[in-house]
Amino acid sequence: MSTQALPTILKPKLHGLRGVKATRLTSGVKPVKITYAIETIENQNEKCLPQRNRLNDLTGKDWIQETVSVWRQRGLGAAHPHTKYERMHPAPFSFQDVARLIQFFTKEGMLVLDPFAGVGSTLKAASITKRLGLGIELSPRWADLARRRLKEEVPGLNGQKIWCMDIRNATEKIPDNSVDLIVTSPPYWMILNKKADHKVREKRLALGLAKSYSLDPRDLGNIPDYPSFLTALARIFEELASKLKPGKYCTIVVSDFKHGSKYHPFHSDLYGAIDQSKLELQGVTILHQTHKALYPYGFPYAYVPNIHHQYILIFRRPKESKKI
Ligand SMILES: C[S@@+](CC[C@H](N)C(=O)[O-])C[C@H]1O[C@@H](n2cnc3c(N)ncnc32)[C@H](O)[C@@H]1O
Repeated sequence: MSTQALPTILKPKLHGLRGVKATRLTSGVKPVKITYAIETIENQNEKCLPQRNRLNDLTGKDWIQETVSVWRQRGLGAAHPHTKYERMHPAPFSFQDVARLIQFFTKEGMLVLDPFAGVGSTLKAASITKRLGLGIELSPRWADLARRRLKEEVPGLNGQKIWCMDIRNATEKIPDNSVDLIVTSPPYWMILNKKADHKVREKRLALGLAKSYSLDPRDLGNIPDYPSFLTALARIFEELASKLKPGKYCTIVVSDFKHGSKYHPFHSDLYGAIDQSKLELQGVTILHQTHKALYPYGFPYAYVPNIHHQYILIFRRPKESKKI
């Protein structure tokens, strides 16, 4: 089919995607493609686009699919031997999801920073995707496990680093304009410190697993009031913005949560607390967690959600700002 024959509605979109197969995508995770062939593209796609592509090493086809604003969370499955370290931490994210972000927002060899590194999921993803990772983690317990995890699960390690310290002290050691991507999941305030419910007792305490990060007062998960927590976290991201090269991205994985009877829309609260002149929101991707068990919260008296999704807040350091 020639470009002439395309429905008018698609033409403007195709204009910016020369050499890429025109694809109409549904919003599902595995996009259904209704293809309108423009030219013979696969070849051109491989040959032409990466030369002009300053962001990543993806082909145009893969690039477009990653911009769908709903992702299905990828995991290894509980029985996989590589979940051993991941499971010890009370709130890890999946290294496969992080690898997708790293592959979209960087090229091979670039520097990825995780300011709340936990058991090193970002460093594992960086290693597998041939990027350099720097992780900061306050708790020696998680930092040690991260090191052990990388040794066991990613032999060869490829220069990944973990610094065990408060992120607020680490910022002065990271040069300005040096980082290609920040990807992280911060503490969700003090939700892990609340009294263990049925789920926590069954899934963690019964197995001898930790239910919170640490007792360290510098741990952001131990700040007792929500507004102070939000302010502290937002100031950290604003400070980290100056570590990014101008025009580079900061992706933050968060979830809304209930604390007591109050629902906290954490993703929008955090967005609202961050100074947009330092980090500008570019979009929000929903991460659908299809593996989570359903609990009868509230039944049969009141609506209480089973929260089965996270948000990936995608910020960018403005290009123009030479100094922050
Ligand atoms: C949501 S977890 C990150 C988990 C990580 N994404 C993973 O997959 O293992 C947040 C981490 O931030 C750490 N943390 C809390 N306060 C910190 C601080 N002030 N500086 C550095 N790390 C901190 C906690 O110990 C915890 O491991």
